[in-house]
Amino acid sequence: MTDKLIIFDTTLRDGEQSPGASMTRDEKLRIARQLERLKVDVIEAGFAASSNGDFECVKAIAEAIKDSTICSLARANDRDVSRAAEALKPAKNGRLHLFLATSPLHMEKKLRMTPDQVFEQCKLSTRFARNLMADIEFSPEDGYRSEPDFLCRVLEAVINEGATTINVPDTVGYAVPELYGEFIKMLRERIPNSDKAVWSVHCHNDLGMAVANSLAGVKIGGARQVECTINGLGERAGNCSLEEVVMAVKTRRDYFGLDLNIDTKHILAASRMVSQTTGFVVQPNKAVVGANAFAHASGIHQDGVLKARDTYEIMRAEDVGWTANKIVLGKLSGRNAFKQRLLDLGVQMESEADVNTAFARFKELADRKSDIFDEDILALVSDESVTHENEEYGFVSLSQHSETGERPQASVVFTVGGKEVKGSSDGNGPVDASLKAIETHAKSGAEMVLYSVNAISGSTESQGEVTVRLQNSGRVVNGVGSDPDIVVASAKAYLSALNKLHSKADRVAAQG
Ligand code: KIV
Ligand code: ZN
Repeated sequence: MTDKLIIFDTTLRDGEQSPGASMTRDEKLRIARQLERLKVDVIEAGFAASSNGDFECVKAIAEAIKDSTICSLARANDRDVSRAAEALKPAKNGRLHLFLATSPLHMEKKLRMTPDQVFEQCKLSTRFARNLMADIEFSPEDGYRSEPDFLCRVLEAVINEGATTINVPDTVGYAVPELYGEFIKMLRERIPNSDKAVWSVHCHNDLGMAVANSLAGVKIGGARQVECTINGLGERAGNCSLEEVVMAVKTRRDYFGLDLNIDTKHILAASRMVSQTTGFVVQPNKAVVGANAFAHASGIHQDGVLKARDTYEIMRAEDVGWTANKIVLGKLSGRNAFKQRLLDLGVQMESEADVNTAFARFKELADRKSDIFDEDILALVSDESVTHENEEYGFVSLSQHSETGERPQASVVFTVGGKEVKGSSDGNGPVDASLKAIETHAKSGAEMVLYSVNAISGSTESQGEVTVRLQNSGRVVNGVGSDPDIVVASAKAYLSALNKLHSKADRVAAQG
């Protein structure tokens, strides 16, 4: 019998806790669909009791996704657990994930509870949860810094109460691989009923070791579930990165001897989607999904790869969704070829109307840019600046003038509630002037907390992809826009962010 490693993705819960990474319901649904395509075993969709917005997100994902188990986090108390169970009702396969801190520091300073009170609460809420649902995960928060005797006592009790997965978080990223692996092994050996649960690892990346620690938990400790996020998204230095763990286990099957469900060719599309949605740019040298991950710059390497690719490549770029920067389509390509390319790239449009909108934008781009790469197509379909019905703001056109020694001027024509308006302004640069021109009418008063530009396919001929993060009255939203002209891309990104502020789509930090 083969041994399987369960991939539990928490991009939509722990990943979203990263300041500025909160997502709307629609964004979460889109990412959940991509995670399902990726064949992630468990999707942690949110923390249902934390807000009405998160409750609705978990419920919507539980309704839409059928191939992955849908999980909601809950503090170990009856109210949270009931709320999570309610949100998970529509799920084909649902999981309740309970947590309560067990380290001396957290119990004393944060919870102000004695160990005995924590023990009782863990036991009773697991019992309560088990009466509502069969699939129960329990996490002792700050588990790695907990006192081993006490942790063994708690975990034995929750397994007796029916917990089916035991997750051991290194909440603050303090562990080192060998010690974390040994810690999991010790728990499994000492707890008499440990064989009744699947053991899981959950590592944060504060010392840059989340992936190494998780893999040690698997190899040394015998864990069979890894909790991770796309691009390692998460608070502070982030969580364990899904793409790195998956490709390590797959590439070094000789060492780990484990099977995975993951359909790796959807990894890159998932990475881009999460990056574009949250505005968290992927560094070029990031393993597996960074722009340089498969690029060979030195002559010796290039020569070697041309003669035999395995001289310098341990995985195939196409296995994770890269397609060698090919010119895939041009001005004369038809709708069917475009649709097929989308499917090859792992992009599934929600409706034929969405395919038509994307195809119209592709034609528009092909008129202005001779070579269309896969990256252009991915940016085009995820560009949020496409004006959707009912959206308050829509981009129409832009003109700007800049000259050395002169203050740049810009005029932007855009729609507000369907009516065309024109704003003009000067600014420190053409981008600044354009965004100020929009503000002359929008008057959002929002504060810009992030502005970033990324060349989609590398050269100056490339499209620029701009992310703008705005903050207003405690809400943080990201807008993304792409265009061969980065000033236009900036205006589109800004309008997209304004639309999100205007739509009042509920954005919540999962763990308040
Ligand atoms: O890091 C952590 O401890 C967590 C738990 C809530 C599982 O995210
Ligand atoms: Zn965590």
